[in-house]
Amino acid sequence: MSNRIYLFDTTLRDGEQSPGVSLNVEEKLEIAQQLARLGVDIIEAGFPVASQGDFNAVKTIADNVKGPVITGLCRATRGDIDRTWEAVKSAESSRIHTFLATSDIHLKHKLEKSREEALVQAVEAVKYAKKYCSDVEFSAEDASRSDINYLAQVVEGVIDAGATVVNLPDTVGYAVPEEFGQFIKTIMEKVSNIDKAIISIHCHDDLGMAVANSLAGIMNGARQVECAVNGIGERAGNASLEEIIMAIYTRKAFYDKEINVSYKELYRTSKMVSTLTGMSIQPNKAIVGKNAFSHESGIHQAGVLKEKSTYEIMSPELIGINRSNIVLGKHSGKHAFNNKLEELGFKLDEEELSKAFINFKEIADKKKEITDEDIEALIKEQVWAIPERFTLNYLHISSGTSIVPTATVKLTVEKFIFEAAATGDGPVDAACKAVDKITDIYGKMVDYKLNAVSSGKDALGEVLSQIKIHGKNYNGRGLSTDIIEASVKSYINAINKYYYEQQKDNGEI
Ligand code: KIV
Ligand code: ZN
Repeated sequence: MSNRIYLFDTTLRDGEQSPGVSLNVEEKLEIAQQLARLGVDIIEAGFPVASQGDFNAVKTIADNVKGPVITGLCRATRGDIDRTWEAVKSAESSRIHTFLATSDIHLKHKLEKSREEALVQAVEAVKYAKKYCSDVEFSAEDASRSDINYLAQVVEGVIDAGATVVNLPDTVGYAVPEEFGQFIKTIMEKVSNIDKAIISIHCHDDLGMAVANSLAGIMNGARQVECAVNGIGERAGNASLEEIIMAIYTRKAFYDKEINVSYKELYRTSKMVSTLTGMSIQPNKAIVGKNAFSHESGIHQAGVLKEKSTYEIMSPELIGINRSNIVLGKHSGKHAFNNKLEELGFKLDEEELSKAFINFKEIADKKKEITDEDIEALIKEQVWAIPERFTLNYLHISSGTSIVPTATVKLTVEKFIFEAAATGDGPVDAACKAVDKITDIYGKMVDYKLNAVSSGKDALGEVLSQIKIHGKNYNGRGLSTDIIEASVKSYINAINKYYYEQQKDNGEI
């Protein structure tokens, strides 16, 4: 049997089902392009039938992203399959991914179907999808809690119907590694036509065992693994892509499996997903957490200085963490700035570079040393920008322990400058209320996170907020050495996203 393991990334589908996460089409495309650079084999770009926005995102990714197979998820019905095919058919390589639950719990309480009815539906769905697409994946939802003999029957039936990949999810994260490994092994043994399809696994992290379960599945015959960047996904999330990749790489002698990715893109992918989804990464997160390669205790530090392998099992450089000592400042020229950008993996054209350099100089005037993290944050703000209707032009805050916080804000709107003042519970609240008066769009802040991009009192503050506007959440991001300004920019960024989406929905752009 081949040792090659196929990486199926579901950040844009299951990952986007994380509570509170909502990405627009541009953000999804940006992530999909980065996943292609990372070299995943399959990108699950969304659930096209869920909404027009989801459909557009999957189609845009299918139209534009080259390299990986592009797939979309659908229920096992003709209508869902038709719509999904419409969304993915323009891809270089497309796949239809259809699913139906097989556990008695789901059949009885959710689908109200008998085992026999579900078997017929699954087989018919695969046959129907096959009319469109040679590559069809079938997922037996809640497989790990299904009756194993019935599940084997379903797997055999869908493979006969033409499924090229059969996915056996641990939908509710209930499995434990030894049991899950045995479960995959049993299916491999029981299903007579198993060699005609690739067996896939998709594990959730409710008991914190998604990665361990996935690796156990791989060791017992699964050849596709479904996972998400930073482990995001429904409830406690999915198996984390970077942990699976680095376990297979670091413990090659044990697993003896091949994957085909560009390791140096891992860190950048993780940061991008975290920033665009607004889901921060815990500092102690394996592989990509801030502390993953930091050594605190004196004994550890001394060990690493003598010989890295004393306490480091992976090299941070391998996954694209640069520990460069060259720090830029206000005297650095455009040439040095561009060199640094290239070192960090950004390739900007002349116009983008000039714009980035102006932003860099603005920050350098306020901050003595500009670190790699600062530059990355700056470039992300520029590259991931959507067209701005409202731009912060001026902000004045009056606040203290014994006065009512007051803000005066000026926004540029189509070359005109509008001014408003407001009071609030705090300076950010006051400033956001002043913004509302100008935009006439009233957002509610439902989440707010402030991160220091680098260290020091003059660190750049990055605010990631989630703003609810007319029932939908929009992620906002703002960057500044002044945290009130970063907060207001983040609020305005979310409002601009809302406005941009409205324009698109109304066919104005
Ligand atoms: O968790 C799950 O079972 C899923 C399937 C629909 C693939 O996400
Ligand atoms: Zn799932």
